[in-house]
Amino acid sequence: MNITEVTTVTPAVVAAFERLIPQLSSSNPPPTEEELTLIAESEASILLLAEEDGVIYGSLTLVLFRIPTGVRAWIEDVVVDDAARGKGVGRLLNEAALDRAREAGATTVDLTSRPSREAANRLYKRIGFEQRSTNVYRYSF
Ligand SMILES: CC(C)(COP(=O)(O)OP(=O)(O)OC[C@H]1O[C@@H](n2cnc3c(N)ncnc32)[C@H](O)[C@@H]1OP(=O)(O)O)[C@@H](O)C(=O)NCCC(=O)NCCS
Repeated sequence: MNITEVTTVTPAVVAAFERLIPQLSSSNPPPTEEELTLIAESEASILLLAEEDGVIYGSLTLVLFRIPTGVRAWIEDVVVDDAARGKGVGRLLNEAALDRAREAGATTVDLTSRPSREAANRLYKRIGFEQRSTNVYRYSF
């Protein structure tokens, strides 16, 4: 399994997100080619794919930004195709993201995961993410 960074959004990449995003979110539609290109071209985001023999099995987006207290990073939209789960693909994606965050000078990497996402929560803890005691707020438009 290879973890690669999307630099060019091909039809295969668009098709992969059409297949993967419904497995992550029922409330958000898959990204369009234009939206994927914005993510891939942005200096603030790295779009990672897990692929083997031309088949895309999963994705993760690493978000990087500088604030007064340092370079920070978020991991978002982690998803592995249902048929490929439990084989370490999610771990590989996260480890690749952590490597890139470290290289970019990030001091921390944050993520959130609903408690009901049992596989995800277990995976993050196994990798070394520690649960923080903080209040997570959201303002919805
Ligand atoms: C979370 C997800 C990305 C993990 O991908 P994956 O390729 O299966 O991950 P891995 O194989 O590296 O590891 C999965 C871990 O969860 C465990 N696991 C798998 N299914 C599980 C389940 N139903 N309940 C609890 N743990 C489970 C595996 O045993 C493994 O843990 P281990 O390393 O301690 O054995 C994948 O399950 C997924 O896409 N889920 C739907 C979307 C989602 O929840 N994304 C995360 C958003 S925060």
